[in-house]
Amino acid sequence: MAERILIFDTTLRDGEQSPGYSMNTREKLELARQLARLGVDIMEAGFPVASEDDFEAVKAVAQQLRGGPIIAGLARAKDIDIDRAWEALKHAERPRIHTFIATSEIHLKYKLKCSPEEVLEATVAAVKRAKGYTADVEFSPEDAHRTDQEFLCRVVEAAIKAGATTINIPDTVGYGVPWEFGERIRNLMNRVPGIERVVVSAHCHNDLGLAVANSLEAVRAGARQVECTINGIGERAGNAALEELVMSLRTRRDFLGFDTNIRTEEIYRTSKLLQSITGVNVQPNKAIVGGNAFAHEAGIHQHGVLQKPMTYEIMTPESVGVPKSRLILGKHSGRHAFKKRLAELGVELTEEDLGKAFVRFKALCDLKKEVFDEDLLALVEDEVLSAGETYALEHLQFTGGTNIIPTATVRLRIGGEVVQESGWGDGPVDAAYKAIDLATKIPGKLLEYQIRAVTAGKDAMGEVTVVAEMNGQRVVGRGSSTDVIEASARAYLNAINRVAARGGSGARTLPDTTP
Ligand code: KIV
Ligand code: ZN
Repeated sequence: MAERILIFDTTLRDGEQSPGYSMNTREKLELARQLARLGVDIMEAGFPVASEDDFEAVKAVAQQLRGGPIIAGLARAKDIDIDRAWEALKHAERPRIHTFIATSEIHLKYKLKCSPEEVLEATVAAVKRAKGYTADVEFSPEDAHRTDQEFLCRVVEAAIKAGATTINIPDTVGYGVPWEFGERIRNLMNRVPGIERVVVSAHCHNDLGLAVANSLEAVRAGARQVECTINGIGERAGNAALEELVMSLRTRRDFLGFDTNIRTEEIYRTSKLLQSITGVNVQPNKAIVGGNAFAHEAGIHQHGVLQKPMTYEIMTPESVGVPKSRLILGKHSGRHAFKKRLAELGVELTEEDLGKAFVRFKALCDLKKEVFDEDLLALVEDEVLSAGETYALEHLQFTGGTNIIPTATVRLRIGGEVVQESGWGDGPVDAAYKAIDLATKIPGKLLEYQIRAVTAGKDAMGEVTVVAEMNGQRVVGRGSSTDVIEASARAYLNAINRVAARGGSGARTLPDTTP
């Protein structure tokens, strides 16, 4: 059997901390459960000291995930961070504290404003403090790839002596090229006493588009853990994409000789879930999970694939869980069949949410001749998104056309009360948003608006994603319906509900960065 490479997922930390990807605790928990189904070995749930919201999210993941991955929390090499990380992680079945400090000359000089000796001291103190809480301690010398080799060896050796069990080597700014990054890992493997006792890990950013290649080189040089994110999200150009790393190792096991514990059939669903939570879609040509990743347009390719898929397909869509566009249920299907199909698609709902989704499914069957898996997923997502909402859409009416003033009236249920307002605008969507602003008293500034058809056909459901600024926060909302104005209103209301659920400003406040 091929040796296993540990998959350390940092979607909820390095991914989530980048602009446009923020998630609330409920969303993080939902994604964490899916990451556990995917089979990641370690899940970095957040950076507890960064904000109250981060702390609560890490705590919730640590408390609620059972029988799954190791749960890690990030901490700078400071007592306050390590104590806070432990406070959030202590309920986890298998907690890990991940502590880090920058080691490159440029970071020391301009960011930390301290000497190499002070960094060494802080490293030892941080690892020891973390060790006082848990046996599982990971240490990262931030910006390792641009760190002087000699100094890097000293820091890593000191961290191991202090008790670190995983040494992670980050290419924080994505500066390395594969053979150079591989050499750096090899150098540490050959020179640092005690390195054979720890797991060496690679953490590559994608500024030059080389994060996956650099991580694979690290594996070749001896790393046995790779850090990555779903869809490659993360700071700037992102982190190494989990799906690309895992499928490279799986598809080229013949050459590379390694595998992972990932259930690859869950990859597509995980990618889609992240897209739906954050409202940020991957580009169509994205490897493994993009809309075109398994599409064969050219006639010659189609012919080859039909004769034998391997002519143009190096892996099958099924192996990463891409669903076939299948006609599923019709207006005569009962609740049982509906529930069973959802289970086959990996969706579990509470009885209450199931009931609501079923009512909408029946209504959809009256509007749409053919209902596909994609319709079902969009509808259920809408239902799940609106669960527990403060503002519920009860009624929407609008007029539009040439040479008339577009107007809209919305009726919302807000707690026990019903509020009705009307607005006018430069189109029915604008009018509906103005009416919603009046009814909720949460005026939003629309930053982005996207619409897509869930399936083919003129009667397809429309799925709208909006990014808005509300109460000083950037928020994403999604909604779907066969009526695109209704889908637009639902998306906007979904954003308002998310802001209402968040409360506070959600802002992250990190104390100063000196060790
Ligand atoms: O990129 C980086 O250096 C990091 C560390 C905190 C591991 O994310
Ligand atoms: Zn990073």
